[in-house]
Amino acid sequence: MQNFTFSNPTKIVFGEGQIKEIANLVPAGARILVTYGGGSIKKNGVYDQVVKALEGKTWFEFSGIEPNPHYETLMKAVELVKKEKIDFLLPVGGGSVIDGTKLIAAAVNFEGEPWDIMAKHQPFFSALPIGCVLTLPATGTESNGNSVITKAATQEKLSFGSPLVYPQFAILDPTTTYSLPPRQIANGAVDAFVHIMEQYLTYPVDAKVQDRFAEGLLMTLIEEGPRSLKEPTNYAVRANVMWAATMALNGLIGVGVPQDWATHMIGHELTAMHGLDHAQTLAVVLPAVMQHQRDKKRAKLLQYGRRVWNLNHADEDALIDAAIAATKNFFEQMGTPTTLSGYGVGRDSIPKLVDMLVKHELLALGEHGVITPEVSREILELAA
Ligand code: NZQ
Ligand code: ZN
Repeated sequence: MQNFTFSNPTKIVFGEGQIKEIANLVPAGARILVTYGGGSIKKNGVYDQVVKALEGKTWFEFSGIEPNPHYETLMKAVELVKKEKIDFLLPVGGGSVIDGTKLIAAAVNFEGEPWDIMAKHQPFFSALPIGCVLTLPATGTESNGNSVITKAATQEKLSFGSPLVYPQFAILDPTTTYSLPPRQIANGAVDAFVHIMEQYLTYPVDAKVQDRFAEGLLMTLIEEGPRSLKEPTNYAVRANVMWAATMALNGLIGVGVPQDWATHMIGHELTAMHGLDHAQTLAVVLPAVMQHQRDKKRAKLLQYGRRVWNLNHADEDALIDAAIAATKNFFEQMGTPTTLSGYGVGRDSIPKLVDMLVKHELLALGEHGVITPEVSREILELAA
């Protein structure tokens, strides 16, 4: 196991009816900005619960944060924050709303063009405090310091991370997820699954705790993901998926182990250029990464196949083939196609996608740094 420091400061408030706890969680006397997306929270009753919890407090709202949140939209929110002297941010929604609000938090006191926080890795030294209400279990953003932002003008999707933007609290009420459409249920399970794989499917460092946590989370998603499609209002199922998605990317399983993230980096270019949902890109790219990197990932692929899928082929290569097939099958079972052609993206797009990886200096991806643009091209060819 490698050395590590672990700290996750986000207070998780989990369970049905917990939105009312906002009243006790936001600092007394705060000037609060509630941020949200395209209106799902108004249809499923979440907005009303938030309004009730904020009774007697000073609060404002900013809506219209789109999926893959747009930098341009978020900069409008920054103006509102400055105008109204907001000092606490309360995003209510999925990963896009929470990620977008992290940028708002960081941009308010940033001198210069906030896009450079992502594009030039410019540091920032303060951020407004955030507390969030999560309605889509997927990204883990509710208890991590990461954010992914899209600049609509240039079709670029870039990320930043900072301990300053961890939410102080995250309210996770599984009943808020009952209203998710099947596509977003699938996205959530696939995204969380791939987060675990990015931190697990590398090479062994004898990190038994991290490995077995990761395997338990993967098995939970394999069991409960398809059930959440079939039984959308089964509380226990939704609760297990929600907690698994948070645990998948709150830092715990990633400490002391090598990490990959090539699938995510290649996937972000696919979203930016072709508009695929984040999780859809992962369902396309991950199986191709597993296939292309099967020699380097061999030991972990065998462990994954045996422990997560209970495979017991005598022939190791057959076992790895079966593990990759089982992974694809899981994504397909969730209703998420696993090839570029499944989304109408042709091979002719591949050179442009690789050019964007080069532009974003994503030249040495993966746990060994060996996924060069040429290797990314080969991976995308495998995913065609
Ligand atoms: O905008 P509204 O009307 O709220 O509708 C949203 C949106 O259309 C809807 N939705 C959310 N909760 C709902 C609901 N509809 C009905 N009932 C509910 N309870 O779902 C749609 C998608 O929402 P979005 O927030 O975009 O989805 P997700 O949570 O999957 O977030 C995706 C974004 O997170 C980034 C992705 O790149 C993408 O930009 N990621 C962030 C990460 C992080 N910060 O750690 C890691 C991830 O790897 C990922 O990259
Ligand atoms: Zn993801």
